[in-house]
Amino acid sequence: MTQHPQSSPSTDVVTIEYDRRVAWVTLNRPDKRNAMNPVLNARMHDVLTEQEDDVRCGVVVLTGAGEAFSAGMDLKEYFRETEAKGPMAVRRAQRDAYGWWSRLRWFEKPTIAMVNGWCFGGAFAPLFSCDLAIAAEEARFGVSEINWGIIPGGNVTKVLVELMSQREAMYYTLTGETFDGRKAAALKLVNEAVPLDQLRARVRALADVLLEKNPKTLKAAKDAIRRVTEMTVDAAQDYLVVRQESLNFLDTSGGRKEGIKQFIDDKSYRPGLGAYKRPD
Ligand code: ACO
Repeated sequence: MTQHPQSSPSTDVVTIEYDRRVAWVTLNRPDKRNAMNPVLNARMHDVLTEQEDDVRCGVVVLTGAGEAFSAGMDLKEYFRETEAKGPMAVRRAQRDAYGWWSRLRWFEKPTIAMVNGWCFGGAFAPLFSCDLAIAAEEARFGVSEINWGIIPGGNVTKVLVELMSQREAMYYTLTGETFDGRKAAALKLVNEAVPLDQLRARVRALADVLLEKNPKTLKAAKDAIRRVTEMTVDAAQDYLVVRQESLNFLDTSGGRKEGIKQFIDDKSYRPGLGAYKRPD
């Protein structure tokens, strides 16, 4: 684990459980509603690095222990105590937090946020960084910054306008009103909401779908969605041609040719209905 000036080594603020190629990564400060403090933020860098190389991990699921996904930034440790150490400490804390969210956004493998409970403020950042998100209907979301006198920073305002309409982003930012998992799905903040007792099974089933696909193609496809959002149509077309050609080179399994062969020659599957069979 990387030693970090503002955090002591810790292994249990984040736990990892492997199960059939899913790494269940759990923010583990349940007594503090999984608020993100500097130790947790530093630890998440190492966790993500480890998962990139670990063959037990084909999909990362990010979730929280206990009643919360995450209650956002730790108001005591991330804000008050860090600010007391001066501006450089603040920058370092921001770098660590923003850094792991960015690493997660461009992670090599597919990622799913499993929102099991409270999800406030800064927690919208890792939520957005995950490729997909499934919430418990009972989960409770809020852009609560306004309630204690700050604006939603750390890219939360950006996340809101990326995912919601401007009216909705404005409404929840200015009122701080909370909403449940069903509403989060209606707002397109998450893909869907299911009852809490079905949450893990639904996420597992979704992960299994992803695990059937070519992993190199998944990485190219998810990056493409984030990249083209900021491009003109012409730039996007060019980018997608080049990205596919780079994928042809990077995918040493020759997936694209194999996919065509299994459909056209072998007639062993239908691409409209599922993925081609990859060697184990
Ligand atoms: N920062 C620091 N400590 C926190 C945070 C947080 N964001 N959230 C919860 N805690 C701590 C509480 O201080 C308390 O600690 P204590 O046991 O030492 O007193 C413990 O976690 C439990 O919190 P309660 O408020 O007692 O838990 P409850 O279940 O009643 O309420 C809730 C949960 C609604 C999440 C509440 O804790 C809360 O409002 N937390 C803050 C949410 C928030 O606004 N986060 C900041 C968003 S803005 C941003 O992230 C930049």
